[in-house]
Formats: sequence, C-alpha cells, structure tokens
Amino acid sequence: MSKIHKERRIPFVVANWKINKLQSDVMDFLEKVNEKVPGEKVVETGIAAQDLFLADMVRATADSPIHIVAENVHWEDNGAYTGETSPKALKDVGAKYVLIGHFERRKFFNETDSTVNLKVTAALRNGLRPIIDVDEDMSTYAQFMDAQPSVAQVSAALAGVSVDQIRKVTIAYEPTWAIGSGEAASADQAQKAAYLIRQTLAKLYSPVIAEQVRILYGGSVTPNNAREIMSQEDIDGVLVGTAALDPDKFLQLVEIAKDPSVPNFDIDHV
Ligand code: 13P
Repeated sequence: MSKIHKERRIPFVVANWKINKLQSDVMDFLEKVNEKVPGEKVVETGIAAQDLFLADMVRATADSPIHIVAENVHWEDNGAYTGETSPKALKDVGAKYVLIGHFERRKFFNETDSTVNLKVTAALRNGLRPIIDVDEDMSTYAQFMDAQPSVAQVSAALAGVSVDQIRKVTIAYEPTWAIGSGEAASADQAQKAAYLIRQTLAKLYSPVIAEQVRILYGGSVTPNNAREIMSQEDIDGVLVGTAALDPDKFLQLVEIAKDPSVPNFDIDHV
C-alpha cells in the first residue's frame, strides 16, 4: 500500500522465547538489553516468555520501554480451567501483549479458528493487546510455492472485533515452513503476504483502518535477513524465535527496525 502509511506505523520487534529460557537466563538477558532499547515512539519492543516469568519480567523492565508479552491466554476471565492462565490475571501482573494462535499452539494443542477468536476477544475485553499469528494457506503454497497467508484465519480471528479494538491488534504472518527451519520467506513473499492481509483488513473494516494495523513477519528472521524484510511497505516489524534468544541479536534487530533503509554492512558486529 503506501510508504507514507508505513512511516506512521511504529515498528515493532517481538521476541518469542517459547519454552527456551530459565529464570537466571531471563534476568541476564534483560540486564543486557534494558537500557539499550530505544523509546517506544521510535521502535516498540516486546518479549514473549513463559507465564511463570512474566511478573518478574514486568518488574525488571519497569524503567525500560520493553513490553512483556504472554505466549498464550485462556478465553475465560476465571473459572475451573486447571493449568490455564486467565486474561484478567495476565493484565493484573502487567503483561501488555499476548500471542494468540501461534502455529505451534494449533499443531500441538489443537487450537482452532474458533478458540483463537475467543482468546482474541477475551484479551481485548481485559485490556491486553493481541498479536494474532496467521499461518500459510498450505494448499496454495504446495501448489504454487508462493506466499499465501490464510485469509480465512484472519477473518475468523477477528469476528466480533470492533473498529476501535482492531487498532489494538497486531497481525503476524508466520508461514509454517519458515518457523525454526532456517529458511525465511523472501522479502517479496513476506511483502505479498502482508499486503494480502492488509487488503483483508480493508475489506473487513476500511482501507483507512487497515493502514493503522501493524503487520509483522515471523519465521527464521535473523539480523542478516531482517533489513530487507522490514524495508517492505506492508511489514512493520518482526516476530522472532531463535535469533531473539541472544541479547546481541535482539538488539541488532531493534537497531534495524529503527530505519531498515539504512544499510549496515557490519551488522554482525554491532
Ligand atoms: P524462529 O525465528 O525460530 O523461526 O521462530 C519464529 C516464531 O515461531 C516466532 O513466533
């Protein structure tokens, strides 16, 4: 869509640690990055971690612009759901964002379009900002080997989400085949997918609203491929697993997000 609109969306870099860190690693990481991330008007940063670390992470980032992100949430505010985490409790401990509908949740925990939608509305109802993962439409990908985000997943996730609420939503295009594979989508593929997602938002809401929603790319992002991906017109940031386990790489990605058009040929040594 347009470059002017892209400039008005604040870039967003989100680490997704999955279940890869222990308590001591978490605090070491935050000590290394806390004072080095820019203010959230320049680049917004988030770290998604296991629930048991979130309260400590909120405290440890009290003076830093880093936002704390949950990796999952239940759709009920309270009740008899042993082992789940309520959106009310996440809000209460100070989480700001929550990942919803990650491919790994769909694959290993039977998450469906309808539970994703319940979680999105529960998060919004409780003042949490959802980062909704959208997968590849694998039948199209298998046929044409080209990026094709699941438009059905976008529409289903957003059922009942109002015009006011959609401004609080971030969409992340994460093709299944790129997650943890070392094979990221090309910048062109990622742009095409983000464009299709934005068009879907334009149809569901309006073209003006669609330009206000941030769309991230995720799947084997590293400091080496992030610049080209983040330079694309419809891509507003990245959702990063493996590379974001390393504080130096996380900071490099944040640095790139500040202005992806500035070439940096010494990126591995920043
Ligand atoms: P990788 O960056 O390890 O491919 O993981 C991506 C991801 O799943 C982020 O949510």
